[in-house]
Amino acid sequence: MDAQHELRVAVIVVAAGSGERLGQGQPKAQATLGAEPLLAHALRGVLAARVGQLVCVVVPRGDTELRAVCAGIDPEIITVDGGSTRSDSVGNALAVLPESMDAVLVHDAARPLTPEEVFHRVRNALDAGAKAVIPALAVVDTIKRAQPAADPGIAPEQVHSTPQREELRAVQTPQGFDLATLRTAHEAATMFDDAQAAAITDDAMLVESRGVPVFLVRGSELSLKITTPTDLLIAEALLEGPAAPRWVEG
Ligand code: CTP
Ligand code: MG
Repeated sequence: MDAQHELRVAVIVVAAGSGERLGQGQPKAQATLGAEPLLAHALRGVLAARVGQLVCVVVPRGDTELRAVCAGIDPEIITVDGGSTRSDSVGNALAVLPESMDAVLVHDAARPLTPEEVFHRVRNALDAGAKAVIPALAVVDTIKRAQPAADPGIAPEQVHSTPQREELRAVQTPQGFDLATLRTAHEAATMFDDAQAAAITDDAMLVESRGVPVFLVRGSELSLKITTPTDLLIAEALLEGPAAPRWVEG
């Protein structure tokens, strides 16, 4: 790619999960935050950041509600059916992106409050030549590796070891990739068995396992992922806080 050429970037927003852990009996991206579904918040952030020429939202198969959220937005948003895992959902979106795209950002609809600046940091790294880049934060908790307990009568697990906290990062989305690099990694993953496929929790895993350097840029505490009802309460508090979090650096 010549240095003069402006990258053509697509943004994939994955919203096809069922939201089991949130437990509302509906797809998580439909859950209400403030007065709007999570997907509407996530899309507002994507569009405000102006990091891509094209947005593709992956929705649950048969969904009409989330398609309605995407309808009528300018520029037009492509919607595609999701798969049974997050990785399958990303793969379905990769399959419909035009060949004219150079790079892709993959973002979770479950991160409704990601500040624009995080999108910009990811995009800037792609512009600087990264084939893969993800936002991350230092972890605050001490993290232990667990293993089955020697005596399950006492507790089911025991500590295996303690990784050095200074080396650990909690990673977020949007994750940015050279499009050909991510496509190749996803194609290789179609050979995985069910257990391997279920263990793919982000796109960077697929790329890093192929030896591609995955650059880390600063994420944001505002970019929390809504997983449990507690997360939704925290997001509500952030949204109603003195400064609208959407527009504030994290
Ligand atoms: N996702 C997806 N397709 C899937 C599974 C997940 O598009 N088959 C998306 C979710 O919609 C979410 C993101 O991937 O935006 C992160 O997944 P997660 O937080 O696990 O969401 P859910 O799978 O919906 O939640 P749960 O695991 O509790 O069911
Ligand atoms: Mg899930």
